[in-house]
Amino acid sequence: MQVLLASNNAKKLRELQAIVDHAGIQGVEVLALSDVPAYEEPVEDGRTFSDNALIKARAGAKHTGLVTVADDSGIAVEELNGMPGVLSARWSGSHGNDQANNELLLGQMAHVPAIRRGAAFISVCALVTPDGTEHVVEGRWPGRLLTAPQGEHGFGYDPLFVPAEEDAAGTKRSAAELSPEEKNAISHRGRALAQLVPIIQSLV
Ligand code: IMP
Repeated sequence: MQVLLASNNAKKLRELQAIVDHAGIQGVEVLALSDVPAYEEPVEDGRTFSDNALIKARAGAKHTGLVTVADDSGIAVEELNGMPGVLSARWSGSHGNDQANNELLLGQMAHVPAIRRGAAFISVCALVTPDGTEHVVEGRWPGRLLTAPQGEHGFGYDPLFVPAEEDAAGTKRSAAELSPEEKNAISHRGRALAQLVPIIQSLV
């Protein structure tokens, strides 16, 4: 069975393939948008991660006739009532400008004490089949915000975020200091995608 991952993000594609392989699911080929005939991608104008993930997954299933998975993700900061949330990619106004987004968030949080710097990465994954069956799962990765960037790996808000696991271990590395394997094993996206494994398994 072919499963379309409706994302242009090569890292997400590798993550889903790795999770499917690791789970030992036989007979599943993960396809990227570049593997299928181009279609007009929908506007992600939902109010929630779930809305946006479903918008993307429904469009993929409709246009390709394939089982389609899509993810929508971001960081939710407790002190900011869960924002940037769905606006994470365009928090500073322009889409995908990681540096500007990080600088703005650090500025907004500049005077917030350590005790109130809790945050979580959230990933919501939607799986939609061509017959219209829909599944939505959520992965959360709790932690806290730093006061300055730390680390060179990863992307987005990774340099500002210390996962709870790192505090518990006393190592206090940011998500941008973890290897890709370490991050995938515990990240919000890894946790969400892992919940899709039994669903994919049941469709093969
Ligand atoms: P999207 O779901 O690919 O549109 O990502 C939304 C935005 O959330 C990204 O642009 C990042 O700013 C942020 N984000 C999502 N996942 C991560 C992550 O694993 N690390 C850092 N930032 C992330």
